[in-house]
Amino acid sequence: MAIILARRMADLRASDIREILKLTQRPEVISFAGGLPAAEVFPVEAMIDLTANVLRREGHRSLQYSTTEGHPPLRRAIARRMNATTGTRVDEDEILITSGSQQGLDLSAKVFLDEGDVVLCESPTYLGAINAFRAYRPRFVEVPTDDEGMNIEALERLVAHHERVKMVYVIPNFQNPTGRTWSLRRRRGLIEVASRWQLPVIEDNPYGEVRFAGEAVLPLKALDGAHLVVHLGTFSKTLAPGLRIGWVAAQPSLLHKYVLAKQGADLHTSTLAQMQIAEYIEEGMLDRNLPLIRELYRERRDAMIAALAEHLPAGASHTRPDGGLFLWVTLPPELDAREVLKDCIAEDVAFVPGGSFFPNGGHENTLRLNFSAMPVERITEGVKRLCAVLSRHLEGSQARASCV
Ligand SMILES: Cc1ncc(COP(=O)(O)O)c(C=O)c1O
Repeated sequence: MAIILARRMADLRASDIREILKLTQRPEVISFAGGLPAAEVFPVEAMIDLTANVLRREGHRSLQYSTTEGHPPLRRAIARRMNATTGTRVDEDEILITSGSQQGLDLSAKVFLDEGDVVLCESPTYLGAINAFRAYRPRFVEVPTDDEGMNIEALERLVAHHERVKMVYVIPNFQNPTGRTWSLRRRRGLIEVASRWQLPVIEDNPYGEVRFAGEAVLPLKALDGAHLVVHLGTFSKTLAPGLRIGWVAAQPSLLHKYVLAKQGADLHTSTLAQMQIAEYIEEGMLDRNLPLIRELYRERRDAMIAALAEHLPAGASHTRPDGGLFLWVTLPPELDAREVLKDCIAEDVAFVPGGSFFPNGGHENTLRLNFSAMPVERITEGVKRLCAVLSRHLEGSQARASCV
């Protein structure tokens, strides 16, 4: 007799891209595919000393079970930091520590979504969120998005048109995958629509502190008079993703639902890792290391943009992010980034085809490039090779068009 899996498993499939990208693990490959932070700026030495201090001071408490809500000094440090740097007014009781912001996404779906409910999201949006939400079997409705963020008129029309809209999911700072940042006007517009329709907004903000140019824009959480915003934060891009520490900031009665959902998932997040990060912040190390991260990423973004300016064939365009890890390339409509990727891998260069970031498919003429993980010389060389493959594909498609 065959075993019968839950229906949701039918929706969870390994993507074909993942299989192709496995080929990019070879060290000679110049990979713009992953979303890895630069390992050079991980504070390894500082963490050795700090961990010894924490273990000596906290003793068995650092290795014991702890509360679901999280280590109080870390919750306090996060609330303080958010309020000081982003203009929010959150209390430490409004912070739940999670195992990365990825867990915040899973818990959001667990808290809000029944099968068939509608999630409104940017088009394109973060692949990891699509996958996390998909396990709860919602319908994704993509809202048209441009350089300023979501089109608010379209958002309102879609909210009015669809029954069972349960939440709006957005990444307003240096979005994954496009690198775009929402204007303040669009942020206010989203909050107005959410308030009118009493819609929860999941504000996913892993990159807000990785700004290396321009002025910061207020987060949705700071504009949220109606307390509808669930803000997700993380130390993955400001310290190290391997520690797996993120947080949810939400009004207390809603946060309590997240706490209940998290209890069933993993009881609580690693006690030792929470203590390490609390100490790291308290000792001022986060503030000292962040400028190094920003400077390195700015250099790498500049190198990528300079190489694209030199080599990107006419008809293709790209975004110019002021922070984060990614930029987004739009190719002429006749090109398929999946086909381009196959040829790039033969040249030892990799990226992620953009179609994967659209929950309802399409847009195969787009691609995402990561600029944080490779040194400048490899970025320059990789973009040159990528653009040579692109030019070949363009010539091929033009030749085919002229034969028709
Ligand atoms: C938009 C977005 N949200 C959430 C995550 C998950 O990050 P983590 O779980 O490491 O905090 C990522 C990771 O790249 C991301 O790009």
